[in-house]
Amino acid sequence: MIYRKIPATDMNISVIGYGGWGAGIKGWRNVSEKKVREAIQKAYKCGINFFDTAPIYGNGKSEEILGNELSLFREKIFIASKCGLVQHENGVVEHSLDPDNILREIETSLNRLKTDYIDLYQIHFPDGKTAWDKVFSVMQKLQQEKIIRYFGVSNFSPELLKETKGAGYVCVQNRFNILQKDEGLQVLKYCQDENIGFIAYSPLCQGIFSKSIDNTFKPSIRDVRHLNPIFTDNKLFTKALSEKDKMKNPLNEALSFVINTPGVTSCLVTMTRPEHVKENVALTENYKN
Ligand SMILES: NC(=O)c1ccc[n+]([C@@H]2O[C@H](COP(=O)([O-])OP(=O)(O)OC[C@H]3O[C@@H](n4cnc5c(N)ncnc54)[C@H](OP(=O)(O)O)[C@@H]3O)[C@@H](O)[C@H]2O)c1
Repeated sequence: MIYRKIPATDMNISVIGYGGWGAGIKGWRNVSEKKVREAIQKAYKCGINFFDTAPIYGNGKSEEILGNELSLFREKIFIASKCGLVQHENGVVEHSLDPDNILREIETSLNRLKTDYIDLYQIHFPDGKTAWDKVFSVMQKLQQEKIIRYFGVSNFSPELLKETKGAGYVCVQNRFNILQKDEGLQVLKYCQDENIGFIAYSPLCQGIFSKSIDNTFKPSIRDVRHLNPIFTDNKLFTKALSEKDKMKNPLNEALSFVINTPGVTSCLVTMTRPEHVKENVALTENYKN
């Protein structure tokens, strides 16, 4: 396994991180809790030391499963979670970076994750309403109190990164894959110039590069991919599949594109089956450091 340091931290993380969205079970096809648990154990055994989750993934289920599976190795791994998306009982999702909400969310996350600190705590999405000085001062307070070791941001545009420059975050988690790369490349350039880490999400474009997705695939309303235009816009879907058809080994090309792009610290892959962990880790063995 190749490890890379998030700049300005002591976090030396695996270039492939365990993406915990699928571990929330809901929203993904044919996912079994038993297999998810096996996949997490497999990831740890294969050298993956970076595990990303969020309270919104399965409304707490992902954090709960990761907490149960990882508590024995807590000191040997890095846990990243997030704040700012709250799912209400009626299913409605609210964006809120209100400091009181952040403090409530982290308390619940720590309990579910069976830990008293989070290595990397990330703002999941901008909420468009809370003043940034309030948001970052609560993150700094959590860091001073050693409840979080570092904080990061996610889904920030290049403009927003410039606006919030100097707020103390150590990395940016944004979408970046061979089919959806334009904004990611701009953000990466900014991160390199500012000595900030870049964590890529959806490196396999939510499974487009797997064998199981072909032109008959239509995400149901319960599948998270019904929110991704690449799956719902016929033109984009056909174009994506034709790009994949040109590749000899789509999985390898997609992963190596992301991991070998200069400035990428790590990429997060949802893997709810141990065999997918094994396959992806084997592919990364030949990549550059
Ligand atoms: N910050 C954010 O707003 C944000 C947004 C999206 C994602 N994320 C993070 O990034 C992670 C990954 O992103 P993602 O879930 O959107 O997409 P992704 O990792 O690009 O794609 C996930 C899909 O790829 C499949 N897959 C993985 N390895 C495979 C293999 N070897 N062979 C065949 N299929 C394979 C998975 O199947 P199986 O599940 O069957 O293994 C799953 O269906 C998430 O878990 C989350 O941690 C963050």
